[in-house]
Amino acid sequence: MDKILVHGGRKLRGSIRVSGSKNSALPILAAALLTRDTCVIRGVPDLSDIHYMLTILSHLGCEVERASGVVSIRADKIRTEASYDLVRKMRASVCVLGPLLGREREACVALPGGCVIGDRPIDLHLLGFEALGAAVRVTGGNVKVFATRLRGGSVNMCGTHGTTVLGTDNVMMAAVLAEGVTEIHGAAEEPEVVDLANFLKAMGARIHGAGTSHLMIEGVKELHGADYTVIPDRIEAGTMLVAGAIAGEKLTVRRLRPDHLESVITPLRTAGFQIETETDAVTISPGEKSSPLHLETTPYPGFPTDMQAQMCALLVRTPGESVITDHVFPQRFMHVAELSRMGAQIRLEAPTAFITGNGRLSGAPVMASDLRASAALLLAGLAAEGVTEINRVYHIDRGYERIDEKFNFLGAHIERVKA
Ligand code: EPZ
Repeated sequence: MDKILVHGGRKLRGSIRVSGSKNSALPILAAALLTRDTCVIRGVPDLSDIHYMLTILSHLGCEVERASGVVSIRADKIRTEASYDLVRKMRASVCVLGPLLGREREACVALPGGCVIGDRPIDLHLLGFEALGAAVRVTGGNVKVFATRLRGGSVNMCGTHGTTVLGTDNVMMAAVLAEGVTEIHGAAEEPEVVDLANFLKAMGARIHGAGTSHLMIEGVKELHGADYTVIPDRIEAGTMLVAGAIAGEKLTVRRLRPDHLESVITPLRTAGFQIETETDAVTISPGEKSSPLHLETTPYPGFPTDMQAQMCALLVRTPGESVITDHVFPQRFMHVAELSRMGAQIRLEAPTAFITGNGRLSGAPVMASDLRASAALLLAGLAAEGVTEINRVYHIDRGYERIDEKFNFLGAHIERVKA
């Protein structure tokens, strides 16, 4: 397994372009199952999670071609079963359920495993399918859904931790080919859900209210192919901005939607950083003083759980007492133990981390555990004294396209060591 060595203390400067959004591309690729026509999806990032999704789609019978960031998919004759050895590697595989149910009125997909960020149930997805008239059975580690008729219904996507992003996606992808009108209350408002809705509308779907908590979907008989470009990855962009806060002189992140990052830009400004926004770029530079933060993650448009670990890496060096609570994934603190190995002072009482920022971190061998925790360790390594060795770097490669090359382009000194 590869590892990366981060030589701390180098300043970052210049500008970097953000790749296409992983969390947009994954459901959009799955949505291509909804038509026999060819779909062309552009701006698809080169990530292992994308590779997993394309492998699953091929296994389901799709013809898949990929040329750099452009993927073409033709789901002419498809199977409706995705086995455990395919699904277990990536939880987001669950988002093939909705399009298979919508297109073929049946699906059998292995239940996704849990993962280190916490329990990953799909009860809300299944409730949504049942509201459309599907029968749901969980047997032998698989979830089976089938419907003689799929008809519009009223669904609520809110659970104890708020709404569900992939649950909203899944029900939307089943509802677009149902008979009649479906209303989704408590829908996720994430930009990635809006991106999926826009792709589905490009295929001929009738969807109203994307980006709000109330979606209305008028089922149609069939959908046609589409040529679509996914939005920039707001979490990669946010990660780059935090890198600029931790180790930047003046860092510009390009090809992003600043409006998608308000909930990250605002706390960075509160923490004392200078931030200028343009139409598709944001520049961060140090401010006069720095302040600790009290942050709570909530569904969009609130502060994103996918940025929680990265902000921890910033706040462990920000003098003062900071507090971060993760309401979405209360156990998502695998990064805390590893940051502590680097000298961070964090008291964890999940779902809250109490951070005493002390300005100092020292490089150490640390273990990556999940995508965003790994990114946090890399960010901390940028500012640590000495070398930080991050093992199991495949976690980072799941969600960040060549992140070591991008940081080195900005002035960092990161080596990728083939293990
Ligand atoms: C999506 O996961 C993202 N993944 C996650 O990003 C992100 O952290 C998450 O949304 C929250 O924003 C993709 O889009 C591929 P949820 P998803 O269903 O949809 C509970 C990353 O780092 N819940 O919105 O799987 C659940 O346990 C990844 O890029 C239920 O209770 O997350 C959690 O507490 C990690 N029942 C909360 O809702 C359900 O049926 C939010 O989960 C579904 C979810």
